Amino acid sequence: MQDIIKRLEDMRAGARGGGGARRIEAQHAKGKLTARERLDLLLDEGSFEEWDMFVEHRSTDFGMAETKVPGDGVVTGYGTINGRLVFVFSQDFTVFGGSLSEAHAEKICKVMDQAMKVGAPVIGLNDSGGARIQEGVASLGGYAEVFQRNVLASGVVPQISMIMGPCAGGAVYSPAMTDFIFMVKDSSYMFVTGPDVVKTVTHETVTAEDLGGAVTHTSKSGVADLALENDVEAILQLRRFFDFLPASNREKPPVRPTADVADRPEMSLDTLIPANPNKPYDIKELITKVVDEGDFFELQPDYAGNIVIGFARMMGATVGIVANQPMVLAGCLDIESAKKAARFVRFCDCFNIPIVTFVDVPGFLPGTSQEYGGIIKHGAKLLYAYAEATVPKVTLITRKAYGGAYDVMSSKHLRGDVNYAWPTAEIAVMGPKGAVEIIFRGDLGDAEKIEARTEEYRQKFANPFVAGARGYIDDVIMPHNTRRRLCRALAMLRDKELANPWKKHDNIPL
Ligand code: HXC
Repeated sequence: MQDIIKRLEDMRAGARGGGGARRIEAQHAKGKLTARERLDLLLDEGSFEEWDMFVEHRSTDFGMAETKVPGDGVVTGYGTINGRLVFVFSQDFTVFGGSLSEAHAEKICKVMDQAMKVGAPVIGLNDSGGARIQEGVASLGGYAEVFQRNVLASGVVPQISMIMGPCAGGAVYSPAMTDFIFMVKDSSYMFVTGPDVVKTVTHETVTAEDLGGAVTHTSKSGVADLALENDVEAILQLRRFFDFLPASNREKPPVRPTADVADRPEMSLDTLIPANPNKPYDIKELITKVVDEGDFFELQPDYAGNIVIGFARMMGATVGIVANQPMVLAGCLDIESAKKAARFVRFCDCFNIPIVTFVDVPGFLPGTSQEYGGIIKHGAKLLYAYAEATVPKVTLITRKAYGGAYDVMSSKHLRGDVNYAWPTAEIAVMGPKGAVEIIFRGDLGDAEKIEARTEEYRQKFANPFVAGARGYIDDVIMPHNTRRRLCRALAMLRDKELANPWKKHDNIPL
């Protein structure tokens, strides 16, 4: 017995030591924490239950039979974050560069399978040189097993990827299929082909950071949701983010006690909209003044800034916020913003999170680059996402809601449950100037006549009452009462039930 316990302790010490002191030092020298240090920070103290510490790879080629490290380069198991269950895997770069062997993949698959059975999120901390080169196709098979589970788990439990080191080649496709990707600045990168291959094929010279670093993927490609300064900040933000998410598609969003009363008036909102309809204002001011304690967790803040997405709470319960941003491209919808918001709306709908939409949209962005880029298909994604969503949908039009974009942005016609407008709302096919230039083209030479027609159009359509007369708007509300009215609407919708017709799955325009 004593022998066995000694052996057990030795094996545990071996697993905890990872790739050894020299490699741990090298990891620290790069400003990175080790796989275990990251889990210590992520999970509540003492909550981690580790699995498969004794798993070893089974390869024998290239002298691998003599080089085995218990755990095989990934630490897996479950624990809690602020008391709520989560399954985790954390790749250990100090063991074969965190590369994925068949056994390493099996460990990841085991936690994913269990997470789906019990209904708890999966967080992956990625730091890996990719497929274990010594294993060949066994490693590729391991990746595919993980990919398959990413797809099966999609919409069942939230999946979050934190990229904290290399993630290259086909390995990128596991994070790509998870719900959210966070990246650490300067130490993580993701690309399908690295700088050397790029140089050979396209003769472009680019650094790994420029090609696939955190800033690139959160500002240029939109692949990742957040770029964080370092491992510690990244993990602390991940803990904060986790608190917003339901554990699975079987649960309602978590509720956290709040001291922020539901009927808090916010007088400053009465002057948020500038007198000149062409002047921008910051929609984030409205969001932070309306949600609980001003706590808004924005996603993709540096990508497609013309739409704002993120999580907040109302009366303690999580809501998803989607808002046009007049400060960027006047709030127009374009390819990038439609894709960004559509995926977010679909996440909320998968996981029973009510969607609050703030609308100030002058329409779709015109231009050849948009049309050639497929705005028809990509714009349809957002329309589709809102139309299929059955979660509570509360919409507030603050100013412009023009044309097709009016329909898209969670309108009554797409089963918006409660649709409000501020008195400053303008709901019409287009703005007064554009409308008059089309319907009174013959009068274009006569400035006075055009001015009079424009004023007539403004009086008739640039207000919320035409839509209100048809019931497309449930009420015109005072800006300072926004929080109270939205909270009441969300409370009324708490037990909403709505189902779409049976289908195998839908066919969203991809
Ligand atoms: C086995 C690997 C490895 C790998 C790194 N190591 N990558 N072992 N398989 N894929 C080992 C190294 O031998 C080294 O071992 C240790 O990890 C650290 O690696 P270094 O190169 O010293 O570290 P660094 O300089 O930081 O460079 C990291 C790196 C580089 C950029 C990731 O190691 C690299 O380019 N690795 C190969 C990446 C690659 O081509 N992977 C396959 C991609 S294709 P020692 O013992 O010296 O500490 C792919 C397909 C997936 O992944 C398919 C899915 C469909």
